[in-house]
Amino acid sequence: MTPSTAPGRTDRHYLMCEPVHYTVSYEINPWMDRTRHTDVDLALRQWRTLRDTYVDLGHRVETIDPVPGLPDMVYAANGATVVDGTVYSARFRYPERQPEGPAYQKWFADRGYVTHTAAQVNEGEGDLLVVGSMVLAGTGFRTERAAHAEAQELFGRPVISLELVDPHYYHLDTALAVLSSDPAAPQVAYYPPAFSAGSRAVLRQLFPDAVLATDADAVALGLNAVSDGENVVVAPGARDLAAALRERGYTPIPVDTSELLKGGGGAKCCTLEIRS
Ligand code: ARG
Repeated sequence: MTPSTAPGRTDRHYLMCEPVHYTVSYEINPWMDRTRHTDVDLALRQWRTLRDTYVDLGHRVETIDPVPGLPDMVYAANGATVVDGTVYSARFRYPERQPEGPAYQKWFADRGYVTHTAAQVNEGEGDLLVVGSMVLAGTGFRTERAAHAEAQELFGRPVISLELVDPHYYHLDTALAVLSSDPAAPQVAYYPPAFSAGSRAVLRQLFPDAVLATDADAVALGLNAVSDGENVVVAPGARDLAAALRERGYTPIPVDTSELLKGGGGAKCCTLEIRS
């Protein structure tokens, strides 16, 4: 089979949150270590480079005001899931992050979006990824399966549940990247060992020619990538992934977010896509 190729760039609209209060003061995933020093200035520089990269690619970037005491708010992807202009608010698993859900919901409500307050625990686009006409939904560590059903009912799109089994890849967006959301040619990259056997079989059926990430790609958090259908912003350490992307006609754009990795996130975690 000839592997599918990049469908081409489409304009994107992103929401981001500047890491002015960035630190690691609690540990809710295996990447976080409270005893390690964090450098706010470096986090800010890396975040600004990421934002400027999107702007230079012609995408629209808006920002939400960071709230003191919510260091993980920089991981905007977790703040909500927005499909067809409808906002499914996040409801975080851990108390440390719970105030982020209403903060993001208010940002959308203030701008006239229809928002839906979640009844079920879900961590936004960390676990709910739109691919073509469907939504891939992670569970196992953060988002409840019941939230998948809630999202399906709200968005009216098929939601496919995927079970995550490795705590390092606790959100779906740490184990799977959407390369093309074009309904005519949906495409993903993923790291098979992060998924249960059943979920791997589902992914093979849905995406028979997906890009399979290597161990080295996964530990660099390379799957936490952001694609506009052509350009893929990806961690510089994910070299195998970058080569595989190039082969398929995508343009990998390495952006270093190493400081933000101390909290367990990369480029995609810092980027919430607004689909209107
Ligand atoms: N420290 C954050 C947490 O563990 C990192 C979130 C990363 N975000 C993401 N979309 N994977 O919740």
